[in-house]
Amino acid sequence: MPTVLITGASRGLGLEFARQYRADGWDVIATCRDPVHAPDLVATGAEAHALDVTDDAALAALGRALAGRPIDVLINNAGIFPLQGPDGAFGDLPVAPWMDTLRTNLVAPWKVAETFVANLQAAERPVLATISSLFGSVGASSMPGIVIYASSKAGANMVIKALSIELGPRGITCLALNPGWVKTDMGGPHAQLDPEESIAGLRRVIAQATPSDNGRFYGHDGQEVPW
Ligand SMILES: NC(=O)c1ccc[n+]([C@@H]2O[C@H](COP(=O)([O-])OP(=O)(O)OC[C@H]3O[C@@H](n4cnc5c(N)ncnc54)[C@H](OP(=O)(O)O)[C@@H]3O)[C@@H](O)[C@H]2O)c1
Repeated sequence: MPTVLITGASRGLGLEFARQYRADGWDVIATCRDPVHAPDLVATGAEAHALDVTDDAALAALGRALAGRPIDVLINNAGIFPLQGPDGAFGDLPVAPWMDTLRTNLVAPWKVAETFVANLQAAERPVLATISSLFGSVGASSMPGIVIYASSKAGANMVIKALSIELGPRGITCLALNPGWVKTDMGGPHAQLDPEESIAGLRRVIAQATPSDNGRFYGHDGQEVPW
């Protein structure tokens, strides 16, 4: 059976990825900050590992623990969306949450890729999927008050493109994925999509990906998203 590694799988979209891949019989390596307090994840039967994606030492330790295991699909899912004020706090935007957000949403996907590149290369048709957002699309951007999150995802898009340039020649297909607006703690109860639908769509995109998709940005509906 193929193997998927998912970051940030304690709840929300990461948990739904774990559920659906497990239901299909995949070996699921699910990482989250605190597996002891992630009963929903444990209930999926996934192999749970503790990982804060901003903790380089923990990442290196997990890399050593998983050395030699092929990973067919790696999903950079962990992310944060700090609330800004109603007007985006223009003129008084706090720097610390901005730095934390860049560390989690932009830097960590690159460090995760560096850590598990050998595992991906050991698989037959490996895919590295990073969850971006329509808010990260410079072309589609129109909403005020979200510059911290939007800039982190726009930067993540460049990171994904850079990964595709580095890793495409090594046979790894790198994708940016937009899940849509989904009912999770982050998306809130008024979002348009249920996690089941969004993740079923993203899994289809991942399953159908070929090397010609390397460095592309897709939505859960399979449509290409403007950078
Ligand atoms: N929901 C949407 O509408 C939507 C739309 C576009 C993009 N996205 C993206 O989709 C991804 C998942 O979002 P979601 O809606 O599932 O959000 P969520 O419900 O807030 O869940 C976020 C997940 O990320 C984990 N996480 C946060 N920081 C982490 C860190 N430093 N190390 C490890 N795990 C960390 C959280 O773990 P803890 O439980 O430990 O906090 C949690 O499992 C994110 O990248 C998000 O930006 C979501």
